[in-house]
Amino acid sequence: MRIAKQIAVAVAGALCAGSVAYADQAATSNTWGSSPFSIVSQFFSQASAAAQPSADWKEKGDIADRRAAVLVSQLTLDEKIQLVHGTGIPTVGLGGPFPSWVQGAGYIPGVSRLGIPPLATADSAGGVNVQNAHTTALPAPIGLASSWNVALAGAYGTRIARELRVLGYAEGLGGGVNLAREPRDGRTFEYMGEDPVLTGTMSAARTMGTQSQNVIATVKHYAMNDQETNRMTSNSVVDERTMRETELLAFEIAVREGHPGNVMCSYNLVNGVYACQNPELLTTILKNEWGFKGKVQSDWTANHSTVASAMAGLDEEQPGDLGAAGAGFGIQSYFSSALKAAVQAGSVPVSRLNDMVFRKLRTMIALGILDNPPTPGGSVDQTAGNRDALAVAHESIVLLKNGSASGSNQPVLPLAAGGLHSIVVIGGHADVGVLSGGGSGGVPAADGNAVSGCQSGNPLLSTCATWYKSSPYTAIKAKAPQATVTFFDGTNAAAAASAAASADVAIVFATQWESEGTDLANLSLPDNKADPSNQLYDQNALINAVAAKAKRIIVVLENGSPVTMPWLASVHGVVEAWYPGVQGGQAIADILFGDVNPSAKLPITFPRQEADLPQPTIDPNNLNVVYSEGLLMGYRWYDAKNIDPLFPFGYGLSYTTYSYSGLRTRTDHGGNVIATFTVANTGSRAGAEVAQVYATLPPGLGEPPQRLVGWAKVALRAGQSQQVNVVIPARRLATWNVTTHSWQVHGGSYEIRAASSSRDTNALSERVSVGDMH
Ligand code: BGC
Repeated sequence: MRIAKQIAVAVAGALCAGSVAYADQAATSNTWGSSPFSIVSQFFSQASAAAQPSADWKEKGDIADRRAAVLVSQLTLDEKIQLVHGTGIPTVGLGGPFPSWVQGAGYIPGVSRLGIPPLATADSAGGVNVQNAHTTALPAPIGLASSWNVALAGAYGTRIARELRVLGYAEGLGGGVNLAREPRDGRTFEYMGEDPVLTGTMSAARTMGTQSQNVIATVKHYAMNDQETNRMTSNSVVDERTMRETELLAFEIAVREGHPGNVMCSYNLVNGVYACQNPELLTTILKNEWGFKGKVQSDWTANHSTVASAMAGLDEEQPGDLGAAGAGFGIQSYFSSALKAAVQAGSVPVSRLNDMVFRKLRTMIALGILDNPPTPGGSVDQTAGNRDALAVAHESIVLLKNGSASGSNQPVLPLAAGGLHSIVVIGGHADVGVLSGGGSGGVPAADGNAVSGCQSGNPLLSTCATWYKSSPYTAIKAKAPQATVTFFDGTNAAAAASAAASADVAIVFATQWESEGTDLANLSLPDNKADPSNQLYDQNALINAVAAKAKRIIVVLENGSPVTMPWLASVHGVVEAWYPGVQGGQAIADILFGDVNPSAKLPITFPRQEADLPQPTIDPNNLNVVYSEGLLMGYRWYDAKNIDPLFPFGYGLSYTTYSYSGLRTRTDHGGNVIATFTVANTGSRAGAEVAQVYATLPPGLGEPPQRLVGWAKVALRAGQSQQVNVVIPARRLATWNVTTHSWQVHGGSYEIRAASSSRDTNALSERVSVGDMH
């Protein structure tokens, strides 16, 4: 697999470098619908080029098609049925029998007489969710998205795939691309924010990384599954244009550019039809329009029918047939004996069953799994995993505030170890570890939970958080060996505050745990009533108490969703670490002390209050989730409504400063727009800037004020400047035409802005004239 190897080398290179390594930028002409970025890194531009359809790529696909067709013709009806449904949930011991090594989320036996291997699958949102396997907990996907580093997303997918494969899994269930319409969604940490282009592009890169390792990548949860409240029964009511221009666009980019082998349909209904039996979503759009060649897999128990779902385009049911255990748990299989009967009765044509099997086999052949199935029993390379986790964490931590203490004109960060005599570290279990999100998107702690008392048990079922043994306190002490560094657990706010009063700096850790299955009640930092399993005290009260006394105070957040910050004006620094993974403590200390210059930017808006959200409350009694805000997803809402966010989309500070100049725009023969501008590092440290490009469409189209159309992450030494070219494919300027049911670029004058965030008041602006395109 030459292509796969090229991608693997590229993405491995990105991580081995340990930091961002960006290439010189050259304008590349881009065709309609191809990758939007002329640049990101030297490494990735190779990977991206390699991943584009080529003669070689097409030939491999054709061979896979031919081989799969031959195999389908040799299978019996029973064998075909066996291949299209799971046999239970190994990780919780339901169903089976499973081979002894299998854990994970699902298992489908193979057909040994034809050399078809079994397919074991495991959750892998931010690392492989298999117990006792010592897998690497990477920073959560929301942190990966904050890096805006496409090469890093490839490396992320590669790391996870290597660990899946060495444990025997040929499919990973990572890759959530649902958009943050509702930031209280308990799975916000598993997704990549609120913008379809950022999410889709990062997902495609991640998928290519995973599939370069001969592992099937999954893109999920298709579609409009944007909150957890009533997730199995709610009906997302959303108009065609809104769907296409928001969440479906993220899926479209993820599928067209990443070529995933697996798309998981979601639990909810979309406009009255269950997502897993929705012919428009599964067949018309995904398979026919986007050319998806892989299989559609149901989320676990999201299939509700035999004929309707089979005919709509569902190819694999999970967890499938649990045997005797199924009845006890009310889990019914519609794709085992019921599907066989439907095929025999002719209500599901055998050609549809053949297509289900064909899609699975051609994916396994194309990704090298059929010829080279994984062998279980290997062990994870923890050294490599830790190295990769640290590299991702360094690029995922967002610096949100860096003010000065009274009497000083120096920003509080980075901390200068030599000048510090005393540091107090407070709260958030920072003495022992860092927080992780829960549910299937969690990753077990390789060496046990750092926080005892509330035992995590199986992360699929527990309300207890997992804390990785990566202590920020220990890492901070190591950075300032001559200083007295003391820890207060936060339960006694007065004691912590009085210690802070006499210390040079107080660093308060604040946490917000979230998990699949439940939404957050609000965006406040939880106290011990809101989250009795994981919190011991009122976090906002603690921060206020310390802020009232401390000479300098920095708040470090470990969270999956935005939080409100009633204390923001009283603290000097705020560091957004998300769920930073198994090297989180070290990464936080590296940022605090300036060994790493922060380069991450928010992939999601932080509102000032819940009342500012498009959906001010989540109503558990109303099963219709009406997307009444239409196109106004995320920052589009705040822009259109003139609401001042706490921190806008695309925002993030650095220890250096950047300036933008000389924006010029032009179109190429394909109608793509090329934005050229110079980014200069005007400060005294090396850094990397995420330079964003936004477009405002001509008036009268009913579009939000602006949309992200591209970006470049540029690494610059102190004083260095670099000209960048961001290629904006014509399609990024399109709107969805509900009459022709297709994308349309309207001819007219478009405003293009080069900006450091969606609300950059110094953004450069230039108009470009664009022609009509259907
Ligand atoms: C989740 C999926 C997950 C599956 C298997 C479901 O509850 O929604 O994201 O992949 O379980 O664990």
